[in-house]
Amino acid sequence: MQTNPGTPVPTVTLNDGTEIPQLGFGVFQVPADETQRVVEAALEAGYRHIDTAAAYRNEAGVGAAIAASGIPREDLFITTKLRNGEQAKPLEAFETSRTALGLDYIDLYLIHWPVPSQGLFVDAWHAMEELRANQLVRSIGVSNFLPEHLETLLASARVVPAVNQIELHPTFQQRELAALSRSRGIAVEAYSPLGQGADLGAEAVRAVAEAHGATSAQVVLAWHLAQGTIAIPKTTSAQRMRENLAAIAVGLSADELERISALDSGARIGSDPATAAHTQL
Ligand SMILES: NC(=O)c1ccc[n+]([C@@H]2O[C@H](COP(=O)([O-])OP(=O)(O)OC[C@H]3O[C@@H](n4cnc5c(N)ncnc54)[C@H](OP(=O)(O)O)[C@@H]3O)[C@@H](O)[C@H]2O)c1
Repeated sequence: MQTNPGTPVPTVTLNDGTEIPQLGFGVFQVPADETQRVVEAALEAGYRHIDTAAAYRNEAGVGAAIAASGIPREDLFITTKLRNGEQAKPLEAFETSRTALGLDYIDLYLIHWPVPSQGLFVDAWHAMEELRANQLVRSIGVSNFLPEHLETLLASARVVPAVNQIELHPTFQQRELAALSRSRGIAVEAYSPLGQGADLGAEAVRAVAEAHGATSAQVVLAWHLAQGTIAIPKTTSAQRMRENLAAIAVGLSADELERISALDSGARIGSDPATAAHTQL
């Protein structure tokens, strides 16, 4: 399925009033020396929301693509994340990211992982609140926060996180965490939304795709969008960039959504945030 290139990507209004394009483009594991080319292709395909992180070591490539694109800054939504190893110095880390991206402000800055063993994420959050107050970042949020991390943060937060970016795809849905986040006004953003490709072969996904003349990736992304979830698929293929973006035109029935939701197995692909330290990131 293709879309008219002018079809607008739907947006989600965050708890601070900011609008985030519901379908974005992730650059985890895109090599630094390929990132400019890949992000230029994504912008050309029509993506306006790019998700990077200091830990991905490719912010400069994202920034170079933005600069080369000539797209007005206000039309773009750029997310980056605070490294685990820099939770003790978030203001300096933010400045390093902002400089690498070549931007005056960042749209969304996230704490990448809670790393509870460090005991630093609450203090890091207060620094992020300062960045927001100083208008260096429009929205602040968290990633990989489990219920206990959210509760700890909310106990002393002046600003409720706008987003919780978590692993979420048909075979790993984290329904309780998603519901808790939403009940606190925190938008849910799905990372690894395609299950890093592994969910695309599921029989239910393939059957629904066939019924729509769509691809499996389009069906999985349409499933995310139908639930109000923000999704940030990654691909280095220009053809797949267009394919994934065209998911905005795929409408699934309640029965089809339920068939895909039934794939939840509770098995993660990524690390468990309760124990993940990744302080090298
Ligand atoms: N906050 C966090 O801790 C965290 C963790 C992981 C990811 N993320 C974010 O989430 C983004 C996406 O997650 P992800 O990269 O882990 O996984 P993903 O987007 O679920 O899947 C990416 C994989 O799917 C393949 N793919 C993409 N489109 C496809 C299509 N239409 N048909 C078939 N295969 C397709 C890609 O291959 P090709 O590239 O070869 O096309 C790649 O191997 C990341 O880039 C990053 O921005 C955040």
